[in-house]
Amino acid sequence: MTTPLDALPLETLRTRTSTKWATYPADVLPLFVAETDFPLAPAISQALSAAVERGDTGYVPPRTRYPEAFAGFASRRYGWDVDPARVRTTCDVMMGVAEAIRAVAGPGEGVIVTPPVYPPFFAVHEESATEAIRVPLVRADAGWQLDLDGIDAAFAAGAKAILLCNPHNPTGTVHAREALAELAEIAARHGAWVISDEIHAPLVLPGAEYTPFLAASETAAEVGIALTSASKAFNLAGLKCAHFVTASDAAHAVVSRIPMEVEWRTGLFGILAGIAAFEDGDGWLDALIARLDANRALLADLLAEHVPGARYLPGDAGFLAWVDLGALGWGDDPSRRILKDAKVALNPGPSFGAEGAGFARINYGTGPEILEAAIRRIGALIAS
Ligand SMILES: Cc1ncc(COP(=O)(O)O)c(C=O)c1O
Repeated sequence: MTTPLDALPLETLRTRTSTKWATYPADVLPLFVAETDFPLAPAISQALSAAVERGDTGYVPPRTRYPEAFAGFASRRYGWDVDPARVRTTCDVMMGVAEAIRAVAGPGEGVIVTPPVYPPFFAVHEESATEAIRVPLVRADAGWQLDLDGIDAAFAAGAKAILLCNPHNPTGTVHAREALAELAEIAARHGAWVISDEIHAPLVLPGAEYTPFLAASETAAEVGIALTSASKAFNLAGLKCAHFVTASDAAHAVVSRIPMEVEWRTGLFGILAGIAAFEDGDGWLDALIARLDANRALLADLLAEHVPGARYLPGDAGFLAWVDLGALGWGDDPSRRILKDAKVALNPGPSFGAEGAGFARINYGTGPEILEAAIRRIGALIAS
């Protein structure tokens, strides 16, 4: 069995200068933005330290090993056959999403989003000048699912693409291969595209089986444009590197038309860290997954003990928990009361769409001590 990765101690985390640790005063425990609290994978530290030593801080060259490194990772971890010639880098996943949308939908045209969903999936349309068409996920007994009939209807009404999130943020849902294959058929029937954000894919947890959208079926390969990065699993968001993947001539042609400037904005440190992650990060990633799996169970236990009114359906992937706190009577946005009175920062449910009223998103990508301290603080609010 893999030993779970240990998080950094609170004193060290408080010296960090990124959003998670530098937004709130020191009496707040931050369990909000999707950064994690672990030491960097050794292979990444070494690659970045060596680059600093060399003063190697310039632009990304025209050819790097990054596409091959990702193809190797995809083959080992997911059994997915990626052609390195169909990997194109960019600055971050959301810039890639904006450009992919712009490439397939004109100004004012509709792009389906499936709330509750990562808030920039709404905001990105300001950048791409498109319109978000909301087709909410459906809550079934087994978990959250795509509303395939609703998506079909939205395409019939003119939407040009769907922005898929697989695994889904905030519910942690890993969509079933059958649902993805069916989605591909629906999109193909309407001549529409599936832009699949798979940034959380390296963090699929035990018990779930992830299917890369492009590998769901031959049709999916035709209609899909995937975006991913090492940045969420390996906590590299500040290094600015993500990539498009395609698996058909038609999709490759779309991504090839995206201007060179979009690729040029990739960060060199992101490339170097991504290569190290994809080539030499498996052991560290396995230890992280073991930690997140344990934390997912711990969070369920802590909520049951300290916040009994909370409803939490543990997700299949990642380190984000979507928790219904509606029964506590703290209004549509319980995170406000929790920040003010418990000094714990969570993401407000309503920022994920109207479906998030009464919910909050909890980041459990941290050590068990911090997680327990935070949930105890929230529980103490009920006691008071
Ligand atoms: C689903 C999803 N997509 C994209 C991002 C942001 O990625 P990037 O910083 O590469 O734009 C996040 C960050 O949490 C995310 O959860």
